[in-house]
Amino acid sequence: MRVVATPADYDELYTQWQGKTVALVPTMGALHEGHMALIRYARQLADVAVVSIFVNPLQFGPTEDLSRYPRPLEQDLGICRELGVDAVFTPSVDTLYPAGMANVTTVVPPENLTEHFCGEFRPGHFTGVATVVLKLFNLLRPSVAVFGEKDAQQLMVIRKMTRDLHVPVTIVPYPTVREESGLALSSRNRYLQTEAEQQAARCLYRILNRIREQVQASEQRLDAKTTLESISRQVLGEVAHPDVTVCLQYLEAVDKNTFAPVQILGPDSKILIAAYVNQVRLIDNLDLG
Ligand code: PAJ
Repeated sequence: MRVVATPADYDELYTQWQGKTVALVPTMGALHEGHMALIRYARQLADVAVVSIFVNPLQFGPTEDLSRYPRPLEQDLGICRELGVDAVFTPSVDTLYPAGMANVTTVVPPENLTEHFCGEFRPGHFTGVATVVLKLFNLLRPSVAVFGEKDAQQLMVIRKMTRDLHVPVTIVPYPTVREESGLALSSRNRYLQTEAEQQAARCLYRILNRIREQVQASEQRLDAKTTLESISRQVLGEVAHPDVTVCLQYLEAVDKNTFAPVQILGPDSKILIAAYVNQVRLIDNLDLG
């Protein structure tokens, strides 16, 4: 496995590959079983598998966790090696943003995709994501790139960007990898320090799953707003613990293909959720069909 940090070193490798196809898994490191599943899948999609590890400052807000975002690089490289990755790209901030970030050209996704959900609470986040992903595509020249459905709005934004800008990369989604409890794996789960916080974090999936069960069991058309409200109240009551504050940031039903809000829940609906468990922000989503 090769570890390269500059475009010039990558170009050398790419030339050696002599036209082999590249599958890319862009990550911010702190790799877990979710990333690992994407990487295993990527290996099947092209001749060569490349993982990028870059904590992208442009997608973090001023009050977010950029400086304390985990960076266990040696451990990540060990995981990539074990998974048979061909190359890991680990650029520095200066390499990806040689002119700084203040006056740099950015990719701004359309407002209708970013004004709600994570985009509403993280202004500029998806511009940061789209910009760095396009940079990685241009530098690494993959023919396919794998993204997790866990970050549903991100996947939507990346798909739209590649389509609108004619980027010659096929975007391949991968289903959310969960713990047995249902909790979606995330690099931020390691911030859940106490048993009580870990228990409480399971409420995101529990809410989503209970909504799905109720819709599948119901003979009637269920109103989205009242169903989401009553189930979230019920589940939050069940997980209540004196040392943990669970604060829902959003819980919304959208059409899974367009992300437009829906009033009536059905098989094409997707439920999106974000919540703070004490200081830790977690997201998840589930298709009802
Ligand atoms: P990161 O959070 O490291 O995630 C990298 C990829 O892993 C993303 O496509 C994400 O959706 C996927 N992923 C994370 N947890 C997952 C899970 N439990 N199941 C399935 N897939 C999962 O997302 C980013 O980094 C960044 O925004 C990035 C795209 C790299 C741009 O900086």
